[in-house]
Amino acid sequence: MKLLTVLLAGVMAVTPAVADIIRIDTPSSSLVLDARKGKKLKHIHYGGPVSDDDVASLCDALGDGVTSYPDYGMLGPAETAVSAIMPDGNRSLDLRVDGVSAGDVDGGKVTTVTLRDTAYPFSVDINYLVYPGEDVIETWADINNLDKKNSIILTRFASGYLPVRYGDVWVSHLYGSAKNEARVECAPLGHGIRMIRNRDGVRNAHTSHSEVMISLDGKPSERNGRVIGAALCYSGNYKLMFNTDQSNWHHFIAGIDEDDSEYHLDPETTFTTPRLALTYSDRGLGGVSRSFHRWGRAHKLAHGDRQRKVLLNSWEGVYFKITEKGMADMMADIASMGGELFVMDDGWFGVEYPRDNAKAGLGDWMVDRRKLPHGIRGLLDTARRNGIDFGIWIEPEMVNTASRLYREHPDWVLKPANREPVYGRGGTQLVLDLCNPAVQDFVFNIVDTLMTSYPDIDYIKWDANMNIKNHGSQYLPSDRQSHLFIDYHRGFVSVLERIRAKYPDVTIQACASGGARANWGTLPWFDEFWVSDNTDALQRVYMQWGDSYFFPAMTMASHISASPNHQTQRRIPLKYRIDVAMSGRLGMEIQPRDMTDDEKAMCRRAIAEYKTVRHVIQSGDLYRLQSPYDDKGVASLLYVTPARDEAVFFWWKTRTFFADQLPRVTMDGLDPDRRYRVTELNRIDNKPLKSEGKVYTGRFLMDTGLEIPPGHDLDKPDRVSWASRVIRLQAL
Ligand code: DGJ
Repeated sequence: MKLLTVLLAGVMAVTPAVADIIRIDTPSSSLVLDARKGKKLKHIHYGGPVSDDDVASLCDALGDGVTSYPDYGMLGPAETAVSAIMPDGNRSLDLRVDGVSAGDVDGGKVTTVTLRDTAYPFSVDINYLVYPGEDVIETWADINNLDKKNSIILTRFASGYLPVRYGDVWVSHLYGSAKNEARVECAPLGHGIRMIRNRDGVRNAHTSHSEVMISLDGKPSERNGRVIGAALCYSGNYKLMFNTDQSNWHHFIAGIDEDDSEYHLDPETTFTTPRLALTYSDRGLGGVSRSFHRWGRAHKLAHGDRQRKVLLNSWEGVYFKITEKGMADMMADIASMGGELFVMDDGWFGVEYPRDNAKAGLGDWMVDRRKLPHGIRGLLDTARRNGIDFGIWIEPEMVNTASRLYREHPDWVLKPANREPVYGRGGTQLVLDLCNPAVQDFVFNIVDTLMTSYPDIDYIKWDANMNIKNHGSQYLPSDRQSHLFIDYHRGFVSVLERIRAKYPDVTIQACASGGARANWGTLPWFDEFWVSDNTDALQRVYMQWGDSYFFPAMTMASHISASPNHQTQRRIPLKYRIDVAMSGRLGMEIQPRDMTDDEKAMCRRAIAEYKTVRHVIQSGDLYRLQSPYDDKGVASLLYVTPARDEAVFFWWKTRTFFADQLPRVTMDGLDPDRRYRVTELNRIDNKPLKSEGKVYTGRFLMDTGLEIPPGHDLDKPDRVSWASRVIRLQAL
């Protein structure tokens, strides 16, 4: 067998015609496939880097190997990644390797294995994309109907299939609900099927997330062990499935959820699946997170190389009660605290049907002059006078029945024929039919009109507060209704492509009743996501911990809000609220008018200090040190620059027990031989920490760690609860 290696720098020339074994290497991993022409494509290895000798040994050990991207029909009861119904009703496929090619895609090197059916004009191109220096392999399938006359029906169309050797394998993933997003769940894989799916239709990260970590060495650890990370980059319905059967394998299949979504593929057309991003690390969950963060910032995320601004968002400050004076006051306040941006949330629009609450107005994106006599221009001028930027909220995929849009275009909403729709928020909300190109134009025009009228808008908060309750498109023909879920997201992406082509610079937040659009299939067009409508700082420790498994801090909108908290009613001191918000993209979600001068001064100082370290937090490597889920009474993490010359250490107490024994947290990711000076940020204590201003080696900080007192040195009785610390480390 010949060996075909795709090296990252593109050093090795590819000779497809003679390729039998394909090896796709990243700095810390290898994927090996057996691609003998005329045979089934076989999976040989995905894990740590292997040499040519190792490949030979792997082939010996595996014997026949496992079919990669298995097709339905001739493989018996095996799990399959693709199935189709041919024009004559034949439901079987028999795909064999036809060739291997290589090319350049999106700044990376792609290897494509073409599988062709032995009897029908049908082929599948399986793609593997690597970017120079990144430890992620993106894989996806292009499924081709080569028939010149007839359509076929796709009934299964996974993005990727990965066999994982049977063993003590654990899966960690995120699940949750609105206001309780991104909770970490972790369990061993037993026999049978474990399915992670989301069928919301519009958003897809409130409940289960489309990313998993697969720990190969038993119970997951942050710092050690072999872990595979898999992230399905898709904004719509998905299904991630593990089938642990009687074989030597846990079969992992990930892709669009095919239920109620069989897809008719017209003659001579291609169905391209979303990408599945895979990464491997022998440095535990943390290693996988760092790979995803680096790859995401460099190749996926909108403006992954740009630092995010500190902002105030109006929602929890005024809710729907938008007034010109209220907005002006908030702008003056955030400017005085050193913020850089103000975002006006819901409630600013609707003329015939004013948006005074959630029941009316969506779809009518005209300023309500009763509330804002000088319109958006007036607000932009006020922002400029305050030396800050201005952003605005929209929910462009939705409509209320109480709107001019609905009156004029009732045919633009998703609903099945012959039925009254089921309504969402406010009892009147419906989802617009993004399968319809006229609706796509309408949604594009919402942004286009705003941006052409007010080119100085700096930021858009793009919200989405309803799922697809009504399966029915008034645009799609009756025999294509099963395309609804997929075509909705194709429409969504096509609108975003148009927006980004015309407005590449504007910052856009993906908000979806909170964190329901935290996904790598959404972030290419968005700069960040709103983590949750729950801004309680303690619960945010858990939620942001979860999101950090897959998403870097710069994507996590993390705001200081009021106490008692509006969602949990919990009272948490401002210091703690600041220290939690600072570990992501810092912002505020509060009515500054209700803050005391001392509180404002504290926020002013925190924002100033955040600015000195935000490059570390937003663009550094993350080391999760002590998990809140371990229930040790403390959670802690650290960001460090790639050069390891600066770090920021976060430490939050997660409970208050008398005489509690808190662990001393050891750091990670520092240079053992460098010496780091300690400076506490957001300090409130009368006396500084014993370590303040002192210098420690990276080795000491990683082997022993700083002793953090369990409380604060304050002149008030409660010195123990809600302790938290943010410590800056600077290499000498
Ligand atoms: C849901 C979002 O998550 C909130 O932040 C806020 O924008 C409201 N929608 C506005 O209706």
